Amino acid sequence: MAPGTNRYRNSTLTPEISIAPSVLAADFSRLAEEIWEIERAGADLLHLDVMDGCFVPNISFGIPIVEAVRRVTTLFLDTHLMLADPEEYVAPFRDAGADSLTFHVEVCPEPRDLVEKVHRLGAECGLAANPGTPVDSLFPWLDEIDMALVMSVEPGFGGQSFITDAVPKISSLRQRADDAGLNLKIEVDGGINVANAPSCRAAGADILVAGSSVFAADDRARAIGGLRG
Ligand code: DX5
Ligand code: ZN
Repeated sequence: MAPGTNRYRNSTLTPEISIAPSVLAADFSRLAEEIWEIERAGADLLHLDVMDGCFVPNISFGIPIVEAVRRVTTLFLDTHLMLADPEEYVAPFRDAGADSLTFHVEVCPEPRDLVEKVHRLGAECGLAANPGTPVDSLFPWLDEIDMALVMSVEPGFGGQSFITDAVPKISSLRQRADDAGLNLKIEVDGGINVANAPSCRAAGADILVAGSSVFAADDRARAIGGLRG
């Protein structure tokens, strides 16, 4: 894309949006069935929330679950590492079958080496910023990463309310990436539902992560369709 052009403004075309259901909200006692159902319902990728009880005050799941998920689906595994020490774990999670590895700028403010390591492992690399972290902290790395992840809740738990401050962060990332002609994906994660998805899409998000609003829905295909708009 030429610098200065924007795929969203001055366009009547709806940009392509991907929906990434977060497995955190699935029924873990029947995980394979849950994944097959969400696949049939139209999920574009699967979001896997890995929590270490240190970077976030909760523990979710780790390498064996990612391996198990890999065995039952060919969906892209978008792996969100909420870890205090991601450097230690990117290789094992890649070996387990993760397609992308996203870690947080709060624990890795100079991420160049780790981004290179993730790329050497053959995975896409994302960089995430918490609600309280200025979005500018991602700017120096946008030409090196594949995806910027804007947290719209405090990481650690599903089912929280969307923090609207995420929307201008998405816009400024989109503007910055488009101005520089970068092929950057922008993901927003936390509290996404049909009410706030339109503002995220309009701001320029490419991927909407949704846990509760998809998994708790009686009709998950309809829930995913509703997020696409
Ligand atoms: C929060 C996680 C999110 C969360 C999304 O730490 O990163 O992916 O599980 O779930 P909902 O959509 O329920 O906020
Ligand atoms: Zn997440």
